[in-house]
Amino acid sequence: MKTTIFTSLLMACFLLPNTVSAQEKKTPDWAKETSEQKENRLAWWTNDRLGMFIHWGLYSLPARHEWVQHNERTSADNYRKYFEHFNPDLYDPSEWAKKAKAAGMKYVVITTKHHEGFCLFDSKYTDYKVTNTPCGRDLIKPLCDAFRAEGLRIGFYYSLIDWHHPDFTIDPLHPECPRLKGTLGNRFVMDTVAASEMNKTRDMKKYQQYMKNQLTELLTNYGQIDELFLDFSYEDKGDKEWDSEGLLKVIRQCQPQIIVDDRLGLGDTDWGWDFKTPEQTMPDKWVEHNGVRVPWETCQTFSGSWGYYRDETSWKSTNQLLTMLIEVVSKGGNLLLNVGPTARGTFDYRAIDRLESMGKWMDVNSRSIYGCTQAPTEFKAPANTLLTYNPTAKILYVSVFNWPTFRELNLEGYKGKIKYAQILNDGSEVQFREHGENVTLSLPLAKPNTEIPVIEVFLK
Ligand code: GLC
Repeated sequence: MKTTIFTSLLMACFLLPNTVSAQEKKTPDWAKETSEQKENRLAWWTNDRLGMFIHWGLYSLPARHEWVQHNERTSADNYRKYFEHFNPDLYDPSEWAKKAKAAGMKYVVITTKHHEGFCLFDSKYTDYKVTNTPCGRDLIKPLCDAFRAEGLRIGFYYSLIDWHHPDFTIDPLHPECPRLKGTLGNRFVMDTVAASEMNKTRDMKKYQQYMKNQLTELLTNYGQIDELFLDFSYEDKGDKEWDSEGLLKVIRQCQPQIIVDDRLGLGDTDWGWDFKTPEQTMPDKWVEHNGVRVPWETCQTFSGSWGYYRDETSWKSTNQLLTMLIEVVSKGGNLLLNVGPTARGTFDYRAIDRLESMGKWMDVNSRSIYGCTQAPTEFKAPANTLLTYNPTAKILYVSVFNWPTFRELNLEGYKGKIKYAQILNDGSEVQFREHGENVTLSLPLAKPNTEIPVIEVFLK
């Protein structure tokens, strides 16, 4: 487990944008757009709020974290056994799509290639791909078809890091990074002399072209792709090493409407990203860039690891997951919730359980999520509640985490603002009285029969 914690710390540092030079970068002509144009491009996404992340690759076989190759410093030769045994015989993407839809998810983002370099799609530019494993077929195409058939939008995750490509230079994250003698475990010092020797034959320019080629394949052979999640920049590699500007140009040429994350190392510019991606944390308020609120999407796991991790037991409860979703929307963000399918191509039983119970809640409460955002500041959230707000319908949603024992909920400063109120899951009226500047809602003693009850408040 130590390695996993270390990895998270390591990533927390590396995820800081590597963009000192990016700050000075002028907006290229092809990237110019008005804020209204950008808002329109992102409109479906800010409305939909909840997506499914899928981390699936060779690491699903060892089943001990998607960073297993780095954590255990596995050589390429040794890692090969997973390639030779990759055969998800129970893969049924329409089953996945139905489960995502039933959980209330509106889009999916799948790892087409993770840091290990293995491709789940049939690429012309590598042999290290699913079609050469016992599985023998492109897994991305049927996934796109299945999720689209259920009405979900499609997003691709593509790793900028590649521990398999022969031109990707050795750096401290690379599983084959040489270490100075006497350094221990993850607290190691890279042997820079040995590393530069290894890097003599490696050429990042060629790797840049490889990424352009592959992204062109992904963005032309699979229909409309709605979100692109590129991952990630760190101390050793950023916009210069990736040629981020060049990559983004190719991406926008292939799919002008696509929404791109902020991990290209262009985070300081206004044009090199569409949304911020706080990972496995809860921002304390709506995420900002230069003091201005921006679109954001937090990605979160059910259990800590992104890839399938058989022995991990730290699974979040349904209540925690729903609270997370409500809190994200109450701060104007999106939630991308991850499932790590098994080597057989199935969802873990614990993931299925959480998805189903989230779906039960969403069936009757999703009006407090879709199309919602942070409430105007004049509305204060009472203790143990969170507010979400639908600006088009002018409806305020009060999610109540600790159902009151005294049949009342006081809304301070709400006098004269409420037209009607009801409990959302059964549409039963909530009577209220006004006094002073406040409003008191009369609630039933028994907690409504839903994991987190929501009161729907129609505003004047
Ligand atoms: C990190 C990790 C990676 C995971 C991703 C999800 O950057 O390297 O394993 O895919 O976060 O956001």
